[in-house]
Amino acid sequence: MAATSLTEETVLHALRGVVDPELGDDVVDLGMVRRVSVAEGGRVTVELALTVASCPLRSQLRGDVKARLGSLPGVEGVQIEVGTMSAEERKAVMSRARWKARQRADTNQLSPSARVVAVASGKGGVGKSSVTVNLAASLASRGYTVGLLDADIWGFSVPRMLGLEGRLEAEGTKDEWAIVPAVRPLGEGQLKVVSMGLLSESEGEAIMWRGLLLNRAVQHFIQDVRWGPLDYLLVDMPPGTGDIQMGLARTLPRTEVLIVTTPPQAAARVAARVADMARKGWLRVAGVIENMSTFTCDHGTTYELFGSGGGQALADEIGVPFVGSVPFDPAVAAGGDAGRPAVLDPSHPVAAAFMGIVDRLLEEIVPPVEMSGCTARLLERMEGVSVPSAR
Ligand SMILES: Nc1ncnc2c1ncn2[C@@H]1O[C@H](COP(=O)(O)OP(=O)(O)O)[C@@H](O)[C@H]1O
Ligand SMILES: [Mg+2]
Repeated sequence: MAATSLTEETVLHALRGVVDPELGDDVVDLGMVRRVSVAEGGRVTVELALTVASCPLRSQLRGDVKARLGSLPGVEGVQIEVGTMSAEERKAVMSRARWKARQRADTNQLSPSARVVAVASGKGGVGKSSVTVNLAASLASRGYTVGLLDADIWGFSVPRMLGLEGRLEAEGTKDEWAIVPAVRPLGEGQLKVVSMGLLSESEGEAIMWRGLLLNRAVQHFIQDVRWGPLDYLLVDMPPGTGDIQMGLARTLPRTEVLIVTTPPQAAARVAARVADMARKGWLRVAGVIENMSTFTCDHGTTYELFGSGGGQALADEIGVPFVGSVPFDPAVAAGGDAGRPAVLDPSHPVAAAFMGIVDRLLEEIVPPVEMSGCTARLLERMEGVSVPSAR
């Protein structure tokens, strides 16, 4: 995608990534954005109208708008003015939300409160899939319902890393069908997995599927899969900056990107291109994770096998948080081969690194979406409609 300059249109597009989790729609389509202006020097002002003045989602929406716009190229400052809808506006927004809720009930639309996190990298082999699988497993074992979408159509590896085999079932009639994800319960939570590797058994069939899917792979995997309620959807991306990345930006503009890189600066430069692409595609980059950072041998000596500081340097360069680093540890590879992610075995030192990253994701980087009940209650009171909730 070509470089974009900052306009009201790019701001509006980015705002489509901000979803009111209770009304199940983005703030632009809901008519909550009253005014957008872009002043000289990249100062953006947004006027937001909330359904009710005391809405507890107020600070969540504000924070989301700030984060989304703050990561757009060219933005120097974001000012948000918050107002309250008139009775007339509220009526319109509620009827749209009602329509959406009904539509969602008949389709496989992804739950609006699912937090979508794509794990991306500039090149293959940096450990993107290993990181994704370990983070997903750790989130599930803490009680979250986690979708895991293996969007690496050609190089899928998620099924093997989780010890999943066989084929996914399709449910429904010929015209209205949906793929049912493979479910793996973990602790109090569960993983729901969809991968090319679970869609076909014979290589010939796999190639046919790929031909069908490649163009719109992400759309299919999101719209034709009965994900059910999710707290998180983690997407293991193919390396680089191709069609699949763009497809995800189009299908789920609320996606946030975690970039995985290895320490060498060279690798980080490749990763910087991904960051750039993510921003130009108006996906928010939420943070950087460094993988294969250090190696500690059996004698306790720590080596910086591939140099150091690449992840932090990249995070600084693109102005996003450095989330943490994962050491080089054969347990990661062994866990991948055995179908049991290393993070599930706390005796592996590398498990602590993954868990530390998950702590930061939950607390700060991509916290789970809270359903405060303000607009949903209002909706129920007005119309007696019950809004599907995340859990
Ligand atoms: N932290 C790590 N320590 C040791 N080996 C790792 C680590 N992360 C990944 N690997 C290994 O590196 C290889 C590539 O990892 P993978 O997750 O498939 O990368 P990607 O998805 O980026 O192509 C795999 O063999 C994997 O087991
Ligand atoms: Mg991979």
